Amino acid sequence: MTQRIEVLFSEEVIAETVRTLAHAIAARQPKDLLVVAILKGSFMFAADLLRALHREGVVPGVEFMMLSSYGAATVSSGTVRIIRDIDTDVSGRAVLLVDDILESGRTLAFAKRLMTERGARSVEIAVLLDKTGKRQAPCEADHVGFVCPDKFVVGYGMDAAHQWRQLPFVGVVVDAADGGR
Ligand code: IMP
Ligand code: MG
Repeated sequence: MTQRIEVLFSEEVIAETVRTLAHAIAARQPKDLLVVAILKGSFMFAADLLRALHREGVVPGVEFMMLSSYGAATVSSGTVRIIRDIDTDVSGRAVLLVDDILESGRTLAFAKRLMTERGARSVEIAVLLDKTGKRQAPCEADHVGFVCPDKFVVGYGMDAAHQWRQLPFVGVVVDAADGGR
């Protein structure tokens, strides 16, 4: 059985939405902004969002934090682990957490609490996709690209068992019994 990808959010639609998000973030005139991208899934979104923020005149610091609640499974394990921490002091700064998907909310609730405990002046959340109705932890995003249907999506940085991150769009994996035609 081969697999093909059905496009859910195209490159063009994503690009337009990223511009809109950057505009909204810039409108808040964040002072001493530190963008913290949550790896791995957010790398493509964060890269595009940062370039869009630059075009809006925003000059943020950029950091990366690798968190894991999934492993290779497609169902959250419930425990969030820090695989790689940031190496910047966040105290007094406006932190913008950037992630691919807000689903159970555990990952971002954990990251937000961590940044707050470390003394961030404010912590906002920007996600490309929001799987509403899937929340297990109280956590909402301040900036949402798209509301995502309750399907496992891949591409634009997101994977299924370490595959499909390179796709420039967001899609759904379809098992094709006909050889993918
Ligand atoms: P949660 O909000 O803690 O459940 O975790 C959200 C994280 O799980 C996201 O940052 C993604 O890395 C991952 N995730 C959730 N749903 C999907 C999906 O449909 N495809 C790929 N990764 C997903
Ligand atoms: Mg993620």
